[in-house]
Amino acid sequence: MKSYKIAVIPGDGTGPEVVREGVKVLDAAAERFGFKLDYTWFDYGGDRYLKTGEVLPDDAVDRLKEHQAIFLGAIGHPDVKPGILEKGILLYLRFALDQYINLRPVVLYPGVDTPLKDKGPEEIDFVVVRENTEGLYAGAGGVLRKGTPDEVAVQESINTRKGVERCIRFAFEYARKRNKKKKVTLCGKTNVLTFAFDLWERTFYEVAKEYPDIETDYAHVDATCMWMVKNPEWFDVIVTDNMFGDIITDLGAMIQGGMGIAAGGNINPEGVSMFEPIGGSAPKYTGKNVINPLAAICAGQMMLESLGEEDAARAIENAVKKVVSEKLESLSAGRMGYSTTEVGDMVAEFTKSL
Ligand code: IPM
Ligand code: MN
Repeated sequence: MKSYKIAVIPGDGTGPEVVREGVKVLDAAAERFGFKLDYTWFDYGGDRYLKTGEVLPDDAVDRLKEHQAIFLGAIGHPDVKPGILEKGILLYLRFALDQYINLRPVVLYPGVDTPLKDKGPEEIDFVVVRENTEGLYAGAGGVLRKGTPDEVAVQESINTRKGVERCIRFAFEYARKRNKKKKVTLCGKTNVLTFAFDLWERTFYEVAKEYPDIETDYAHVDATCMWMVKNPEWFDVIVTDNMFGDIITDLGAMIQGGMGIAAGGNINPEGVSMFEPIGGSAPKYTGKNVINPLAAICAGQMMLESLGEEDAARAIENAVKKVVSEKLESLSAGRMGYSTTEVGDMVAEFTKSL
């Protein structure tokens, strides 16, 4: 039987609860479609850091590399100063594993509420390809005369031809594979960031020549926010830098029904990718069995797709659609009409039977 080695990092807050349901659904899919998922559990996160003083052990990256994919719950602990775990675990792994794409689908499922008036599943169906290893996240810059009235803080955006090009090429390939509107929109700020987005724009139109079947479009990031609210149906694949991608995908999560359902993949097409719900650790709901596990379940679906188990991924998607359209009262924590465990059980059942 085909078997995949999966590293699981439940992480902090509600991470372990949603991961537990994600694994339940993944196992249901594996059972039905005849493959095995062989999990190794890692305790990386805030509790481990508070106990040991170490954010990640030295061998973390090597050990994770022994797996075909990583399934992550959430990173972020109320007793740890903001930035330590985010930078030391999440961003560190994205960089160390060269997961240069952050793929974030924005899809509204039937029966799910969106704050956008008169918009439905027909209009909200696109994906953001966020560059994931460069830009403002690269950590370039520094501080001078800290704490004095003359303090200077510089934070630079790093954009390499290679990094930009591989991201843009992924977006075009993805638009082709998606086979929907066959359109890639570059989201930038060419009117102000005239060094960085000049590189992006030139690269975009050069790469586009290799994809004559794909339509191209451009929108500044501020306008992108506007169109995502006013005319989301214009988008198919949006490609953008790390910071803009971070911002517009929170907006995307809201128009698709909230953090309860928003999933993403940190992808290294040639290496080990990491899949996660994008909503964070939601510490106030920890241990209450009220958090929505669907985002983690959808992250699991994306993981199976990337492993090539597309039928199994489709089965999970259909099960999620069924549960959101026919069962849940809301996608918000505590208001689903079911517990975290019950939602996982229902999706697992439908994954086996639909
Ligand atoms: C995300 C998060 C992270 C990011 C934080 C937690 C470092 O907001 O995955 O979108 O900014 O990338
Ligand atoms: Mn974010």
